[in-house]
Amino acid sequence: MKKIVLDVDTGVDDALGIMLAVKSGQCDVLGITTVNGNVSLDKATENTCKILDFLQVGQEIPVIRGASRPLLRHVYFEHRIHGEDGLGGALRDMQVLTKPQEGFAPDFMIEQVKKHPGEVTLIMTGPLTNLALAVSKYPELVHQVKEVIFMGGVVKEHGNVTPTAEYNMYVDPEAAKIVFHAGFSSLTMVGLDVTRKVLLHESHIQDLGDTPMAAYVKKSTSEYTERYFERNGVRACALHDPLAVAVAISPDLVTTQKLYVDVETKSELCDGQTVCDFQNRLMKEPNMNVCLDVDAQAFFDQFIRVLKA
Ligand code: BDR
Ligand code: CA
Repeated sequence: MKKIVLDVDTGVDDALGIMLAVKSGQCDVLGITTVNGNVSLDKATENTCKILDFLQVGQEIPVIRGASRPLLRHVYFEHRIHGEDGLGGALRDMQVLTKPQEGFAPDFMIEQVKKHPGEVTLIMTGPLTNLALAVSKYPELVHQVKEVIFMGGVVKEHGNVTPTAEYNMYVDPEAAKIVFHAGFSSLTMVGLDVTRKVLLHESHIQDLGDTPMAAYVKKSTSEYTERYFERNGVRACALHDPLAVAVAISPDLVTTQKLYVDVETKSELCDGQTVCDFQNRLMKEPNMNVCLDVDAQAFFDQFIRVLKA
């Protein structure tokens, strides 16, 4: 079992990532930390608790609140994509039983990594604020964590908030910069180059059968799918965050290359853009594994099998 801490801004696709991690049977989820992003910290935390209640594991997995805003910038919510509540209205009337535990997400990450040196995988599916705060407070974290896998950025294609920036990078580029340069020995970028290749179609939902899970996935992704259709002309939605979780479970799903990547923080037009030095023009050591391709069929085989179980 892989020991993981999942950091989320729950979010339609974060919620599906949580489900994949919890139901896979391959992750020992030490805790789920929350961060401001798609929705406020309060909503992200409540949504996380709701998902654990839905999965009936609220008693087993601690939820810990983290940063309520980016390091330097204003919040930038995505209600148009994730709905007012952040889950596309799917669990709007559900009473939440699980409550977050005391503590602060960056401290929880540090504590878990110290407790299990060399064993913890951090999976980040929101802005990188909590991790930036953790490494700033405890720089040895980079040597004691097993690996970090984050959903964010894009190296060959266009962005999804601005022409050049992916959402998680755009919201807190200063945090991303700290993480990119912190010196992690295993940092993996699961960016839009690969997440746009794992598109959830209506047929996938049908594969889930006539179950509460299928009903949840259908409702939660309905508006999210419409927004994807508006921009891309395809009636489907990208499973960005579940892919980051899947990569933690099955690294072979993706093809990666070790490259140097930096993030823009001082530009009028390009803040949050991840700049990848494919030709080593900056002559810097690679600082991360960049996912460049994915076996989408194998991902969906795993995703549907796990959610159906
Ligand atoms: C990322 O931004 C959020 O909207 C999603 O939850 C995902 O983490 C995709 O750019
Ligand atoms: Ca997210």
